[in-house]
Amino acid sequence: MPSRVPLPWLAPLAAALVVTTAFAQPANRPANRGGPPAPPTPTPPAVVAPTANPTPPPAAPPAAPVTPPAPVTPPAAANNINNRPGNPPANGATFGLPLAGLTEAQLIAFADGREDFVQRETPATGLGPIFNDVSCAACHSAPSVGGASGRTVTRFGHSADGVFDPLDALGGSLLQDRSVNGVPRETIPASANVVARRVTTPVFGAGLIEAIPDSTIVAGTLESKPPGVRGRVSVVTDVATGALRIGRFGWKAQHASLLSFSADAYANEMGITNRFFPDENAPNGNTAAIARFNDGVLDDVTDPADGRSDTDRLADYMRFLAAPPRAAMNASALAGERRFAALGCASCHTPTLTTGRHPVAALSEKTVPLYSDLLLHDMGALGDGIVQGTAGAREMRTAPLWGLRTRNALLHDGRARTPDAAIRAHDGEAAAIRDAYLRLADAERQQLLDFLNTL
Ligand code: HEC
Ligand code: HEC
Repeated sequence: MPSRVPLPWLAPLAAALVVTTAFAQPANRPANRGGPPAPPTPTPPAVVAPTANPTPPPAAPPAAPVTPPAPVTPPAAANNINNRPGNPPANGATFGLPLAGLTEAQLIAFADGREDFVQRETPATGLGPIFNDVSCAACHSAPSVGGASGRTVTRFGHSADGVFDPLDALGGSLLQDRSVNGVPRETIPASANVVARRVTTPVFGAGLIEAIPDSTIVAGTLESKPPGVRGRVSVVTDVATGALRIGRFGWKAQHASLLSFSADAYANEMGITNRFFPDENAPNGNTAAIARFNDGVLDDVTDPADGRSDTDRLADYMRFLAAPPRAAMNASALAGERRFAALGCASCHTPTLTTGRHPVAALSEKTVPLYSDLLLHDMGALGDGIVQGTAGAREMRTAPLWGLRTRNALLHDGRARTPDAAIRAHDGEAAAIRDAYLRLADAERQQLLDFLNTL
């Protein structure tokens, strides 16, 4: 367990708070995931000291050797998604802070979960045997921890006569293309005829999205919409509770809760088994290759004292992350906002939804300016061909547009480098509205883009 860093990035917040407790690790936290026993809990670090220049926390110690080295690391340009040329600076210091109005206990949970989010796993802490990257923050990195990046993962399957087979027995649909401990890494099976890349989405404001009632998302299907625009809810079984819920996270709205997404990502992106996903993934379904790793011991240990594990702490961190801050509007952006509504963009990219009553006051009955209806839409040629849950091959979740100005790998596979390119690729239910966008005069189109650049 790396010793705790004093969280200098929380300094602006600490300055605004009367901090009476250090962000100390609970003394009863279990030794990390079956690795060597942790050294005695170190003295908690001093109270967060306000500093004028918050800096990111120091990098975690280098991970143990991982073979082979990241074969899918995208070109540096794709990863440097901050500050699209000509954009207002993203100002990393204002992204990634906790929600305003959290209690001290919630702030501690946020800080604790953030530590897990940035922690680089190693084989000794449960990484692999097959995986995609070593920490959540390796992919969710820009413009700060909790953000998106140009990093993509790959899904595959076989489609014939309108029937999609995720090739479960061959390790589908998610590819894990790295491995440790001499286990073979996955490759795309020859029988796959659908291969789709998915770019990393940000998790800023994720707790607000989680707190939107299912009934509110369902109500979005009943609103009157421009001709051709429909929208369906994604119905999923929430892994964390077993309940049928309305999905809202991921490109296919494939998860309803942050706990289930954490558990899924831990197991399937990093190979960290947990109480919801207790089995290691077998490379391309080759169970013999990993038999020795399925020893019945979970990588993510649940603390007997409170029944919680790192999976829960990750969910807390994301739940308590603030929404991405908006940039200032000017006259052109204001005109563009009106165009966004008049064209019909807002019929899918719903400017705001509202959370329900929530035990966490900072999440209760709040306006959420996410610019999404959280519904699935048939996007025609833009669909990714993957069937996931109730989402069909051409159906995609309306991408929330908040935080857009900090990103330059847009659409599900990151193919669009600018909002303009992303809009031009809209199809299916959005085709008529895309055409109306294309018919705008250059100056009008610029107003719309100026508005998007404030999000
Ligand atoms: C290898 C890169 C990678 C790693 C590691 C990773 N993610 Fe992600 N994350 C992604 C991608 C890609 C998506 C979009 C996936 C999709 O929709 O199919 C995503 C989406 C998400 C979302 C959904 C956000 C939304 O509304 O769309 C959450 C929540 C999330 N990740 C949490 C985590 C957590 C927690 C961890 C660590 C346990 C983690 N991720 C590790 C790449 C990664
Ligand atoms: C029928 C619903 C619908 C309409 C209408 C619509 N969009 Fe979208 N939009 C989507 C979906 C779904 C996606 C995600 C597409 C994908 O999977 O790549 C998206 C993605 C985007 C993205 C990329 C976001 C990202 O995170 O990658 C931008 C920018 C965008 N839309 C802007 C607009 C604008 C501007 C308009 C109006 C001209 C508009 N959209 C109209 C459904 C819609």
